[in-house]
Amino acid sequence: MSLQGKNIILGVTGGIAAYKALELTRLLRKAGAEVFPVMTKAAAEFVTPLSFSTLAGSPVSVGTFDRTAERGVNHINIADRADLLVVVPATANIIGKVAGGIADDLLSTVIMATDAPNRLGRGRALIAPAMNHRMYRNPIVQANIEKLTALGYIFVGPERGELACGWEGDGRLAPVAEIFSAIERALSQKDLDGERVLISAGATRTVIDPVRFISNASSGRMGVALAAAAVRRGADVTLVAGVMDVVPPIGVNVIMAETTALMQKELEARFADSTTLIMAAAVADFQVAQERKEKIKKGNSGLILELVKAPDILSGLAAKKQDRLVVGFALETENLKANALAKLKAKALDLIIANSPEAVGSDSNKVLLISKDGLVEDLPLMTKAELADIILDKVLSIKKTNQETVTNG
Ligand code: CTP
Repeated sequence: MSLQGKNIILGVTGGIAAYKALELTRLLRKAGAEVFPVMTKAAAEFVTPLSFSTLAGSPVSVGTFDRTAERGVNHINIADRADLLVVVPATANIIGKVAGGIADDLLSTVIMATDAPNRLGRGRALIAPAMNHRMYRNPIVQANIEKLTALGYIFVGPERGELACGWEGDGRLAPVAEIFSAIERALSQKDLDGERVLISAGATRTVIDPVRFISNASSGRMGVALAAAAVRRGADVTLVAGVMDVVPPIGVNVIMAETTALMQKELEARFADSTTLIMAAAVADFQVAQERKEKIKKGNSGLILELVKAPDILSGLAAKKQDRLVVGFALETENLKANALAKLKAKALDLIIANSPEAVGSDSNKVLLISKDGLVEDLPLMTKAELADIILDKVLSIKKTNQETVTNG
């Protein structure tokens, strides 16, 4: 429940993309947020207020002050309690009104009443525009967006695509998942601000011939959860991805690296510029001695493949870590603690996460967290998303201790 207890004002203006704000409402509620929809009269022509109030679980205010004065006042009260204001979709009209300081209906008044983003904080007012591409490209609209951006409003999208008017161009509402993740980012504590986190995820492949390979069952879920949590908490994140079953998170710099050799090359190229490395990838330990350029014919007998040891990427990087923090994983079928502790020492890591094969491909994990000082934390079963935050908390606490040690001599 990443948005538990957060109060979000959802402004909806009149555009065909208004129906997409319903899906956003559902996602926000599912994540634990309270959603207070405020619709313009034009928005209510596209989607009914009943749909929004049903999904939001709270009454919806529409249009101007033509209902009851008390309602308007209620929304000023909500404006006071808001943690975030989002306008999805935002027409050229509402962007122009906000930029011009005009408050002539309920939504524009609520926006002024939040004093967004001054009182909510810079970046706590999000606007997701959707309009015809010529309107979006109009210098007046662009100047308004520039002005609001300078004042601390965040714009999400629009993206290029097919528009309701039949044209193709900029002006399509950003995908709902992208708006949702921008909301999560805006509302999270930015305790990893300034950190450059390099993460590996997924399985690597050992190539046999042009059509065959050896690999493993890693899904990439843990690395992706770590990347999503780190970017939400303000880090600059690079994800070097092997073969994964899941899509990488939004806002992360993704480098594809299917083979062990490529993953090693990409990580080595980026390690110097990182402040933390988290090696969640399941790297193949062996590689074929002689990769064949032609497909191996089946012939009449069996086949013996010679495998040689692949480089240990993590050990190689940790050897030149200097003041960077290096985190590894240990996958063990037996002697979890002892084997993980041995890997932590052999690979000169700051932290190791010991887990069992049940974790592979699953959404949850039960792990031991073992740090360099020998402290072992036996964590309960939890989702990989929850675990990602705990690992990042631990990274921060180790960094803090390291800094204090340096300061105190
Ligand atoms: N690792 C790596 N390069 C390899 C193998 C593993 O960088 N060739 C990293 C993994 O990403 C993980 C850690 O080393 O963070 C431990 O991986 P694991 O598979 O548990 O152990 P191994 O070192 O491969 O040892 P073993 O397979 O014998 O248990």
